[in-house]
Amino acid sequence: MRKRGSSIDEESLRRIRDSCRLISTSASTVVFTGAGVSSESGIPVFRGSGGLWERYNPALFGNLLGLAIVFAFSPGKISYFAMEAISTFLSAKPNPAHEAIARLEQAGIVKGVITQNVDNLHRKAGSSNVFEVHGNIFRARCLKCGVRSDIPKEQILEKISSGEKGSSKRRDLLRMMDRFSGRCSCGGRRRPDIVLFGEMLPRETLTGALELASRCDCIIAAGTSALVYPAASIPEYAVQNGAALIEINPNRTRLTPLSQIWISLRASTALELISKEFLSKDELDAWRI
Ligand code: APR
Repeated sequence: MRKRGSSIDEESLRRIRDSCRLISTSASTVVFTGAGVSSESGIPVFRGSGGLWERYNPALFGNLLGLAIVFAFSPGKISYFAMEAISTFLSAKPNPAHEAIARLEQAGIVKGVITQNVDNLHRKAGSSNVFEVHGNIFRARCLKCGVRSDIPKEQILEKISSGEKGSSKRRDLLRMMDRFSGRCSCGGRRRPDIVLFGEMLPRETLTGALELASRCDCIIAAGTSALVYPAASIPEYAVQNGAALIEINPNRTRLTPLSQIWISLRASTALELISKEFLSKDELDAWRI
């Protein structure tokens, strides 16, 4: 049954109201996000129809050894995968879900964001207390000294010369990756600072995320299938430490049975409605909703 004039069913609106009540009585609300939140910015999810792993085998494209095998035997696929990823990430902009989370943080409602996404969109939207447990594609890490540094988005396309773009020659691919990540001041090669399957999560970031999750009394898990550990254990860890879980996902996941409220809406719709409850009129006017 839908409320007249609204494309949102009455049950979902009720759950939104219940979530606002829960958030308003919590001293510390944290948001945990996955690829579903960025899917509305044009970045494909990993699993499910149209997901990245439907088109690229994660056993090859999701870990270093697999990428080395593809590089050795069919470098053209690496080039295609890399150019698709670079153009998708470069063109993606924050969507209303990212903006709502940032404004709820600025209004003091949300204490921080723990994200599995590497697209930098929470920071672009204005979130400041962000824990990127799978890293950030616009940051590079030196293979020699370990120093991390930002890769300015604006310079990326300039760096990748037209000769290398789309080339399937191994030396062009190596040159393109060198230009994308640049060289460290110590002379070491750098790689994108993202976590591939089988790699350790950045210790400091994970510790900070677990600390935040253990202290919150409400955690909103938005846009995640919660299938990839250890990140996927963070919402559970919060619940074990007494937090109430609100899940925002059009599909049921393994978190749904743990959630106090399950909002089966898209993240931007649900988070925009929630933020309307907490942002003052001027804050809403300053924003576009
Ligand atoms: N709003 C909310 N949820 C959505 C939306 C949307 N608009 N669109 C899709 N979803 C949900 C899907 O129902 C699915 O449950 O988002 C989830 C996306 O799941 P995955 O593709 O598995 O993404 P994620 O949970 O972030 O994956 C975790 O797996 O491959 C690794 O490192 C990668 O960080 C990633 C990790």
